[in-house]
Amino acid sequence: MSRIGIAGLGYVGLPLAVAFAEAGHEVTGLDVDPAKVEAVGSGRSYVEDVPDSALAPLGERLRATADYAELAACEAAIVCVPTPLSGSREPDLTYLLDSATSLSQVLQSGQLVVLESTTYPGTTRERLLPILERSGLTAGSDFHLAFSPERIDPGRTDYTVRTTPKLVGGITEACAERARELYAEICDEVVVLSSPETAELSKLLENIFRSVNIALVNELAQLCDRLRIDVWEVIDAASTKPFGFMRFEPGPGMGGHCLPVDPFYLAFKAREHDFYPEFIELAGKVNQAQPAFCVERIERALNQASKPVKGSRVLILGASYKAGSGDTRESPALKIIARLQGLGGDVSYHDPFVPELPELGLTSVDLDEALASTDLAAIVTAHPGIDYAQVVSTAPQVIDFRGVTRGIEAKNLERL
Ligand SMILES: NC(=O)c1ccc[n+]([C@@H]2O[C@H](COP(=O)([O-])OP(=O)(O)OC[C@H]3O[C@@H](n4cnc5c(N)ncnc54)[C@H](O)[C@@H]3O)[C@@H](O)[C@H]2O)c1
Repeated sequence: MSRIGIAGLGYVGLPLAVAFAEAGHEVTGLDVDPAKVEAVGSGRSYVEDVPDSALAPLGERLRATADYAELAACEAAIVCVPTPLSGSREPDLTYLLDSATSLSQVLQSGQLVVLESTTYPGTTRERLLPILERSGLTAGSDFHLAFSPERIDPGRTDYTVRTTPKLVGGITEACAERARELYAEICDEVVVLSSPETAELSKLLENIFRSVNIALVNELAQLCDRLRIDVWEVIDAASTKPFGFMRFEPGPGMGGHCLPVDPFYLAFKAREHDFYPEFIELAGKVNQAQPAFCVERIERALNQASKPVKGSRVLILGASYKAGSGDTRESPALKIIARLQGLGGDVSYHDPFVPELPELGLTSVDLDEALASTDLAAIVTAHPGIDYAQVVSTAPQVIDFRGVTRGIEAKNLERL
């Protein structure tokens, strides 16, 4: 049994902290947000994948704090802080550098530090290492340093922390080996790579692969709209090929902390080397245009019913970026709502996971009441537990941007 510190108790850090505590380790979870420290301390989870019932049996094995000094007693410290984009869509490493600075003040000889936050290749060695070495300790000899990307997919139950292979890349072979031993406690398979840079770039490849393929099917959906071909039927058909094709689904655009953000991290690094990654930028452009295409579809549908957007009641179903989650970061629903509001639409939304959207001046409305009084309902994020057949049978017009009404044919229903 060892003591493990986790800096950043969010979507990534909290499930990781729980996994180590469940494996019998003493975990010190650290967050600069006092509300999260308080919540974990009183056994309340704010991450959908971690039910309160998972925190209760851990007792003192998971302790939350806002004080970096408590990490001095840990054998390993794992950093899971945010890596967002700045206003000009450049990597914003502020949280990471702040965390590293705090960590450098308590770093102890013999400790292992692992970065899990998604970032561009070179961050661990070029940005984290020099700050940690301000402690007077040397990476690779006095303390170990590695990068290990998080592969969590919030809401997913078929693959868990244990069954998803974990990549590690160390500053030295010994660093990688220490990281391998650490993660072997909670993962069935740990894959050791030759460097942190390889591990950093592998994570970006995984996300960029998704971004590019989602852009491809989103573009296909726009073309299918012109050709009057059902894009879902095309994708279902192509998916019957048992090799050489991988299914991706179109939608209202990409959201979340990762897919809309991570490609820009690599594009930034590439530019430093006079390289312009066109696939990545094009995929970002296509995906970011998708909410505007959805608004155009809503406008057209209302137009067919001789209604302008201005003054029409539009009900958005699902505000978070993903089904089963309350995460609204970069959610295309927010862009769709804002654009419709800008056109004078009387917009409301229903989302059992998102009670309010203060930035848009809205709170989630009762589904049955809203369906009975709306002009059009748009399925933007298809949360489980909603009867979409009933949505189609109640609302005067329905547009489904997620393909959940496949199998239903009705005059008042359109799909992406
Ligand atoms: N959410 C995902 O599905 C996912 C999946 C894979 C990788 N990632 C990556 O993991 C990292 C964390 O993402 P997340 O979704 O958990 O973010 P999050 O915002 O949910 O959680 C990050 C936490 O870090 C805390 N924090 C900020 N600065 C801190 C500091 N200096 N010291 C300690 N804590 C600090 C914040 O208060 C917050 O609670 C990001 O790099 C992200 O790209 C996320």
